[in-house]
Amino acid sequence: MKTDFSRNFIGGAWADPVEGATMPIYEPATGKSFGTIADSTAADVDLAVAAARKAYDDGTWGRTTAIERGRMLTRLGDAILSHAEELSAIEAKDTGKPKGVADADIVALARYFEFYGGAADKLHGETIPYLPGYHVGVLREPHGVTGHILPWNYPAQMFGRTLAPSLAVGNATVLKPAEDACAASLRLVELAAEAGFPEGAINIVTGKGQVAGAALAAHQGVDFMSFTGSPEVGQVIQKLCADHYITCTLELGGKSPQVVFADADFDAAIPVIVRAIIQNSGQTCSAGSRVLVERSAYDAFVERLADAFGKVRVGAPEMNLDCGPIITAKQQRRVQSFIDRAEADGVPVLAQGLLAEGIAADGYYVKPTMFGPVPRGNVIAQDEVFGPVLIIQPFDDEADAIRLANGTDYGLVAAVWTRDGARQMRLVKRIRSGQVFVNCYGAGAGIELPFGGSGKSGHGREKGFAALHDFSKTKTMVLNHG
Ligand code: NAI
Ligand code: MG
Repeated sequence: MKTDFSRNFIGGAWADPVEGATMPIYEPATGKSFGTIADSTAADVDLAVAAARKAYDDGTWGRTTAIERGRMLTRLGDAILSHAEELSAIEAKDTGKPKGVADADIVALARYFEFYGGAADKLHGETIPYLPGYHVGVLREPHGVTGHILPWNYPAQMFGRTLAPSLAVGNATVLKPAEDACAASLRLVELAAEAGFPEGAINIVTGKGQVAGAALAAHQGVDFMSFTGSPEVGQVIQKLCADHYITCTLELGGKSPQVVFADADFDAAIPVIVRAIIQNSGQTCSAGSRVLVERSAYDAFVERLADAFGKVRVGAPEMNLDCGPIITAKQQRRVQSFIDRAEADGVPVLAQGLLAEGIAADGYYVKPTMFGPVPRGNVIAQDEVFGPVLIIQPFDDEADAIRLANGTDYGLVAAVWTRDGARQMRLVKRIRSGQVFVNCYGAGAGIELPFGGSGKSGHGREKGFAALHDFSKTKTMVLNHG
């Protein structure tokens, strides 16, 4: 298993940071450091962007065909599966995820390369009928150099989600993974080189957001930015992009509702609802963090949901329980402060999960907590906690359910639980959200499915063919052949 994560990967080779600074990385399950990463500065970002630019303009990468890129992506997908155990172990150590969750993440990561490997040669332009004597063709082209800033919650999956479509289109990439979890990226880039990606196609610069991340988003040599993280930093990225006239994809999280009507199949809904908030300790942009229940069924449903939630068990990765620790001490304090504040506000606690015996005292654990009924204006009903905290609220009728579902600044994912087909369709149409699930919930899953938000959840689309469109642009050619 790879243990040295201390250098950047630029132009096909490992590179020490120009100014020589490093920063420690930590294991969330124990709070112990397990190495260092490069604490890069703008000088490292300059080198990485220059390497990407060279690969795109003059290098082998810029001359690859879609077929060749597809093969490289597919080979990397295969390599990920054949190194699944090592990658999963790195990911679990770096993020604290239960082993089973890390295993599933690596399979999803491979799927990104399989999907976009197959899609690379299926993205094409079009022709448009125009005036007599003219031929109009719309070409689809890469942006050039794309910058990618990643979060720490699904570092391995995110490597695939953001890089695979960009590479499929033919962009050269510069990645700034999160300083709180970036080990998997640094192993994956080695596998990418073995799979045939030439020098400069994928460059990785680690370090702090305000330094290396900001330098990347501000860089004049970057043609498009992809960012996943907090709304606050998303705004910073968008402003930095505006300064050099480029656009960006922002994926900024959510406060995603699960709308449960009295006629829903409770047996089907309950395990899915628990999992949608507990998965990855609630540190999922698409976590189903609000459960809205029709008032006539409120008591009966909530009693059963609380029973299931109270059985959630939290432990270290190797214990492979439902839930692991929080990513950092800072995030642990943030999540705990939401719980403490709701309790201080007098919001009733309906259930709490169990911390396993034998977890390290210095690990970043919090007790999963389910609150309800939560007053509509309460902070915990509006803000993204990004932890294993579920809130329950009653609604009166369909109109009230829609109002409540749309009643936050976010709009990423939603679910509707009802057997009434017409009602399903009405809610799908009226809920403000990038994805709506009916009688199911797909937090994180579905590489094929376009994904993205509106409002405070951000803009742009990832996954599916939609990502290929965002990572490319059209060029309209008008030819007068007389
Ligand atoms: P963050 O938004 O600060 O970090 C995400 C990425 O942005 C990291 O790679 C970081 O280095 C980079 N970054 C930070 N400041 C930057 C800047 N000024 N310029 C350029 N890049 C910058 O997220 P953080 O502080 O780790 O977590 C805080 C909250 O953000 C969480 O509690 C959660 O609510 C939200 N979040 C949402 C995620 C999602 O999947 N949508 C993922 C991670 C966090
Ligand atoms: Mg931050």
